[in-house]
Amino acid sequence: MARIMLDKSKRGWWESAVFYQIYPKSFQDTDGDGIGDLQGIISRLDYLEYLGIDGIWLSPVCASPQVDNGYDISDFRAIDPMFGSMEDMETLISEAGKRGISIILDLTLNHSSDRHFWFQEALKSRDNPYHDYYVWRDGDGVTPPNGMRATFGGSCWTWVPHLGQYYFHQFAVEQPDMNWDNPNLRRELYDMMRFWIGKGIGGFRLDVIDQIAKEPDLEITGNGPRLHEFLQELSREVLKEEGIVTVGEAWGANVERAKLYSAPDGSELSMVFQFQHIGLDQEPGKDKWDMIPLHLPALKQCLRHWQQGLNGTGWNSLFMNNHDLPRVVSRWGNDGQYRVESAKMLATMLHGMQGTPYIFQGEELGMTNIRLELDQYKDVEIHNMYAERTAMGYDHDTVMNSIWARGRDNARTPMQWTSGWHAGFTTGTPWLPVNPNCVEINAEAALDDPYSVFYYYKRLIELRKTVPVIRFGSFELVDPDSEQVFAYTRDSADQHLLVVCNFTGEEIAWDIPAEYQEAEILLTNYEPTPGILKPYEAMMLLINE
Ligand code: GLC
Repeated sequence: MARIMLDKSKRGWWESAVFYQIYPKSFQDTDGDGIGDLQGIISRLDYLEYLGIDGIWLSPVCASPQVDNGYDISDFRAIDPMFGSMEDMETLISEAGKRGISIILDLTLNHSSDRHFWFQEALKSRDNPYHDYYVWRDGDGVTPPNGMRATFGGSCWTWVPHLGQYYFHQFAVEQPDMNWDNPNLRRELYDMMRFWIGKGIGGFRLDVIDQIAKEPDLEITGNGPRLHEFLQELSREVLKEEGIVTVGEAWGANVERAKLYSAPDGSELSMVFQFQHIGLDQEPGKDKWDMIPLHLPALKQCLRHWQQGLNGTGWNSLFMNNHDLPRVVSRWGNDGQYRVESAKMLATMLHGMQGTPYIFQGEELGMTNIRLELDQYKDVEIHNMYAERTAMGYDHDTVMNSIWARGRDNARTPMQWTSGWHAGFTTGTPWLPVNPNCVEINAEAALDDPYSVFYYYKRLIELRKTVPVIRFGSFELVDPDSEQVFAYTRDSADQHLLVVCNFTGEEIAWDIPAEYQEAEILLTNYEPTPGILKPYEAMMLLINE
């Protein structure tokens, strides 16, 4: 089937789009330094075009000391030399554009690197014009203003003796939070975003955007009182351009807030990443390292709430993977015997829904988690968490088990292109080890196998563009209490879709509802057998009226 190109000049084009996230450090290296680069991405655009995606969410490539792999930006208008030059970026934007692929730039508007010029100036004195671009509180160097804890461990407050002040950081010490109450800061950020729009990018992924309006004195991080006011200003000043797509990362989003964020009038953003479904397999009130098994009915109820809640009043993003999450096939599927079947099943579950799907690099190959020794991990979060938890009395094995299951480096191992040396990722030494299973799981092998996970994703992308009910139909669960099967329908006036997913590694008895007995099979990962669902079996059935 010929590739379907979207008209991106109008707002809303993303409702038919599928995006693909690239973590540049791990995608494709071309200069042998073991780190992926922009030329590497350019060299793989044909692969992405063949897959059929419409946009690339590019994790940060701006200049950065790389304390948090580029989420600590020291110059928002420069490309980090590790990834290439501004010219490479311009080539990437235009070469991708020729293939119908937009570049969506990842920006951290909540914080900068401590190496950023603004912060370096801010450190000079209390009356430096940039001082107020950051969040400061007076103190004594002994007792921080309050007990707030940073996401990567330790206090949110770092003492600067020569100023007699603490600065606030929600993440690493090297990622000072910016002060959005300062209108000059906001203006500079908007200018910088316009600079990128001028370069031809298609939109932005806005890092932890629900945390920009923090109020540290009230111990508020997410959803601060001025949040929506700031986003509406951002939209008016920068985003109102037709066709600019924005996705905000919002860990604290619920359906009501998401209606504001993704209001169809474009007054804020296009959509947000919400994480309610992602948090279902951790102990309530604790963090992601405290794991519990996924209870399937809870996942179904959660996704139904979002599907029904935003239908007609907002827009969902659809994802199970990103650079901060473990590989979903290892998490909710089976990365051993049923790796291929369960990867396809999970994709079916997600890609039958309303919203804009995001595929994380390697997800289309069914890439899995990795197990490394502690000193092989690079992620600042893993190391800080290890130190903190062992100090709290957890033993080494317990902490390693949670790193193997939940650590962010699971997603960050190099892309597996071939079965050869370092999976075809680099000719040098990869910055993070390649998963040894690249011998079996790699793009070259997937492209040679018509039953691969790759071709299944390619088909799902085509279906979103050709079967309107996938984009616009209403959503209802079938058999909501089943602990084994995730089934749902999507309905519009003239089309009806049934999606069925066996979430277990068992063969189970399950009857297709009578009205779908004669339906067209759009997609399945097995040859269907009446009355039975095989391990991780999935199917999509369509009725046209
Ligand atoms: C977001 C990013 C994550 C980063 C953090 C701080 O959660 O996705 O990778 O570490 O923000 O910028």
